[in-house]
Amino acid sequence: MLSVVGKVYRVSGPVVEAEDVKSLRMLDMVEVGQEHLVGEVVRLKAERAYIQVYEDTTTLKAGDLIYTEGYPLYVELGPGLLGNFYDGIQRPLETIKEKDGFFIRRGVHIPALDRNKKWHFKPIVGKDAAVKGGQIIGEVFETALIIHKIMLFPELQGKISWIAPEGDYTLDEKIAVVENGQKYDVFMYQRWPVRKSRPTRNRLAINEPLITGQRVIDTLFPVGKGGCVAVPGGFGTGKTVIQHQLAKWSDAQIVIYVGCGERGNEMTDILLNFPKLIDPRTKRPLMERTIFIANTSNMPVAAREASIYTGITLAEYYRDMGYHVALMADSTSRWAEALRELSGRLEEMPLEEGFPAYLSSRLAEFYERAGNFKTLNGDSGSITVIASVSPPGGDFSEPVTSHTKRFIRCFWALDRDLANARHYPSISWIDSYSEYLEDIKGWWHSNISPNWLAFRYRIMELLQKEQRLLQVIKLVGPDVLPQRQRLVIEICSIFKNTFLQQSAFDDIDTFSSARKQFLLLTNILNFYDRCDELIKKGLNISEIKSTSAYQEIMRMRHKYSENNLEELEKLSRTIDESLKELEL
Ligand SMILES: Nc1ncnc2c1ncn2[C@@H]1O[C@H](COP(=O)(O)OP(=O)(O)O)[C@@H](O)[C@H]1O
Ligand SMILES: [Mg+2]
Repeated sequence: MLSVVGKVYRVSGPVVEAEDVKSLRMLDMVEVGQEHLVGEVVRLKAERAYIQVYEDTTTLKAGDLIYTEGYPLYVELGPGLLGNFYDGIQRPLETIKEKDGFFIRRGVHIPALDRNKKWHFKPIVGKDAAVKGGQIIGEVFETALIIHKIMLFPELQGKISWIAPEGDYTLDEKIAVVENGQKYDVFMYQRWPVRKSRPTRNRLAINEPLITGQRVIDTLFPVGKGGCVAVPGGFGTGKTVIQHQLAKWSDAQIVIYVGCGERGNEMTDILLNFPKLIDPRTKRPLMERTIFIANTSNMPVAAREASIYTGITLAEYYRDMGYHVALMADSTSRWAEALRELSGRLEEMPLEEGFPAYLSSRLAEFYERAGNFKTLNGDSGSITVIASVSPPGGDFSEPVTSHTKRFIRCFWALDRDLANARHYPSISWIDSYSEYLEDIKGWWHSNISPNWLAFRYRIMELLQKEQRLLQVIKLVGPDVLPQRQRLVIEICSIFKNTFLQQSAFDDIDTFSSARKQFLLLTNILNFYDRCDELIKKGLNISEIKSTSAYQEIMRMRHKYSENNLEELEKLSRTIDESLKELEL
């Protein structure tokens, strides 16, 4: 029920100052003016309220009425989320597109979840069962990939006094009644305030990698399921391509993609391309596990501020069902800029580079919501956050990058020189790091090879050695280097060309399984060891480079698809044999 709670006194961009305010609370969601523009109370003072409005405010005028239902900004959680495109406050873009063209007409109120669609509900608890918050009471096949668990609202408990028999229901139809002195009707969807994290039992240790299919990531700087990564990089260094690659190929069960303040055509690109993509693991359309939230640079700034909270709340909901969720946010710098603009309009005291003092605590609150958790129903589920950061001028010491670094444990630093040299992904092997290696090595060791971590350290050591050798070359030229050291440089160059570089646009190269990555690395290290022996016996680099073994190594990443990894495994032996001939 909407009631009038004040009127417009002053409008400053997305911020509305209200007067004659009564019975409003902080963070209440309100509707402003004749068009009922959606907004949220961000400051209260005597009879005044400051409201950030999620839509263009240009037609508002002093005296316009302000209404509320008395709820905080919430999202709807239930079957039908997957495959959807939403704006920052969960208004469905597709539906709106059909009605109004590409842009959202102001003040449109379309429910986030389709009320007409029927879902096949299967109860899994019986009448009289004692039930607790978060407990799964039924299931719905949301897509061919995902069983949607219908969970009791986290704060509800009691006894099931009625439950619907298996059958088809719309979201407006009641599917259970819970009694605990009072009677509660239960539906297949629930509402949850976006700024409040959904409760869990406890945090669990991270112990499994998120396999992204991107070699430099999985092998050198892996992230664990439930971890947080920042991807900082200047304009054009490849942040968006990395985020798209992860949305496509990572082995999360659910993907939430938040396009935050970036160019509109990138979201259009997703809109056109994503529906065609097939998951290599499940052979099903990737849309069946994905939700998009778009608040591009041409859309209202306040909704951009809200979009990452909307995204992470959806992520928590699927985590509560026991799924591994990955959330991509591109870019958190644009989010922070929205925060800065709103703070400026509220005439708050700016701190570093105009950002408000609470930038850091807001970032902390957001990253806190990632993790591997034991859910209320005793299952486990995780949220991995991959956040791109676009520091102005590529300067990583600016506030958003430096505060973000305090809350993440994995850092994929994009390097301008690599991008200029068209070495993609331009993730620097010098400036990047991952603190998840120890957490996830067990997975690699039992699923791929007990040598994984040792091999990974070995190649990193070679890369660091190369770095020093390149310094020497700068000073005294390449000629003084002994052959064995030149070999290090040669192997690193092979590793960069055949392993670290990975084309997002090549059908075979776009995704490498963990096994393929390990085999490529093994072959390169094996090649190095054999060549090193030969050099010790007096051969030189140019003789090695003229062998067919060298050609084979250079070709292997494109030549062997996921279907003929057996062949790739045999390559080491072929190489050994062909190098042996050099000894004769
Ligand atoms: N992995 C990749 N493979 C091939 N090309 C890439 C890759 N990553 C980036 N690029 C190229 O770099 C361009 C800019 O990347 P983009 O992700 O849009 O940069 P950013 O988001 O950092 O501004 C892309 O259009 C593409 O041509
Ligand atoms: Mg981008």
